Amino acid sequence: MQTHHTLASLRAQLRQWRRDGASIGFVPTMGNLHAGHYALVELARRHADKVVASIFVNPTQFGPNEDYARYPRTPESDINGLAENRCDALFLPPVEQMYPYGTIGCVQMHVPGITDILCGAHRPGHFNGVAQVVARLFNMVQPDLAVFGRKDYQQLQVIRYMAREMSFPVEIIPAPTLREADGLAMSSRNQYLQGDERQTATRIHQTLVFMRDAARQGLPLPGIEDQARERLEAAGFSVDYAEIRRADLSRPRSGEAGQVALIAARLGRTRLIDNLEFENV
Ligand code: PAF
Repeated sequence: MQTHHTLASLRAQLRQWRRDGASIGFVPTMGNLHAGHYALVELARRHADKVVASIFVNPTQFGPNEDYARYPRTPESDINGLAENRCDALFLPPVEQMYPYGTIGCVQMHVPGITDILCGAHRPGHFNGVAQVVARLFNMVQPDLAVFGRKDYQQLQVIRYMAREMSFPVEIIPAPTLREADGLAMSSRNQYLQGDERQTATRIHQTLVFMRDAARQGLPLPGIEDQARERLEAAGFSVDYAEIRRADLSRPRSGEAGQVALIAARLGRTRLIDNLEFENV
């Protein structure tokens, strides 16, 4: 696997592959990779001849009081893991490569509506930063397809919207959420969980299952959401939201098909998100 720190070097490699007629699959990440990320690489490999991953901890998607400085950076083990998982190239740019005019002077991006709800309401500016860096990465890598995890459900919708709006010729492929044996969704943030918090964290998935089952019984959605919040608070979470939405994240009517339950909640210093899609209510 080739590791590229500059756009010029990445593009030279991509040109060569394009000349050989290879299709390019892309997996953008912020590093600190785990089995969930390697599953994205594997999915990209099934759809493309060559797989490019990127590792870039994107400053513009972190709020002023968030964990940008604390975000775990583990490039050596990530490089080994990607090579073992048959990734073909890694793009590992410095901040100046991604933001030549700095993060204040850079061109801004705003995806309206969908970025103001759920995580967007609790992390103002977060999804604008995500859209901005993903647009830059799409321009740099120019992939045929890109894989994003369903665990970051709202992020996936924001990226689909942005890619369509901006006419990026990229197929967005969603990847299923990988879970630990007890149901906890895999996340780089799980390692922050201290002592009993790891066990308590499993309540998020259990609460999503409760929300799905209650929706299937036809209970009114606001009542289900209140109960979900109460359950999580009783377990020690500080809840940002526990909501049932349509697949496009608009508000559903009770009994409507194609819903998704979404939770974001903090346990100690760790903010966890997860969701559960349910086809038939
Ligand atoms: O999901 C992530 O790891 C990040 O939000 C992404 C898509 C790589 C953009 O920085």
